[in-house]
Amino acid sequence: MEDKKIIIGNWKMAPKTPREAKAVFQNIRSTAGKLRNVQTVIAVPYVYLWELKKLVTGHRCVVGAQDVSFEKDDPHTGEVSAEMLKNVGVEYVIIGHSERRAKGETNSEVANKVLATVKKGLVAVVCVGESERDDDGSYTTFVKTQLSESLEGIPKRYIDKVIIAYEPVWAIGKKAKKEATTEDVLEMSIFIRKVLADMFGERKGISIPVLYGGSVNQKNVFSYINGCEIDGLLVGRASLKPSAFATILEVANGNT
Ligand code: 13P
Repeated sequence: MEDKKIIIGNWKMAPKTPREAKAVFQNIRSTAGKLRNVQTVIAVPYVYLWELKKLVTGHRCVVGAQDVSFEKDDPHTGEVSAEMLKNVGVEYVIIGHSERRAKGETNSEVANKVLATVKKGLVAVVCVGESERDDDGSYTTFVKTQLSESLEGIPKRYIDKVIIAYEPVWAIGKKAKKEATTEDVLEMSIFIRKVLADMFGERKGISIPVLYGGSVNQKNVFSYINGCEIDGLLVGRASLKPSAFATILEVANGNT
């Protein structure tokens, strides 16, 4: 486990203007910049990366991307390569978010994107998570397959550039059926670590940070951070609300 908690804000397709993006980022940075025990990453839409990167003042609060192409060179209309992200100073890339998987992204595409990302020295934040929970536990098999196929072909030497985010689809966004309980998340964080240890060996596997994401807010953050053996959080809606996000960061830092 990392000593610092990793808190990643995923802004998805928001906000609507660069002015708002700058204001929210500056606000978050003013809290995040003070926290020793938290690595804050704000994954913003591509169009804001360059401007917001200029507002980064230290290592505690940095910008990330929400996707990447696995292609290396042009011509690929509409795509952005890992090299381009690296060259604008991006260090973290979310890959395989369920909202992209819902548009058809496959585990093998995710694996190609992860490889392209880690080879450039960037950190790949690989999302996994089941759509539904069933009583017979087959969601664990689903997540295991997602993990093994999404990390297929990633050499062990790149493993320190991988983070796993467990995001059960049923607990994400406005359409969430319910919040995941701490027991739900604890069970899966342990399960995911076991799968990773089987895949990459005990020492390497256990060293991969595991985050939780899905309806995290200022009210439930304490129990997720303290009750689930996770290394951090992937936060959607609340990462666009500076005061809610500030509370999340403070709790992750151990201040409350
Ligand atoms: P919410 O926090 O809005 O539920 O979104 C979670 C998520 O998808 C983060 O990647």
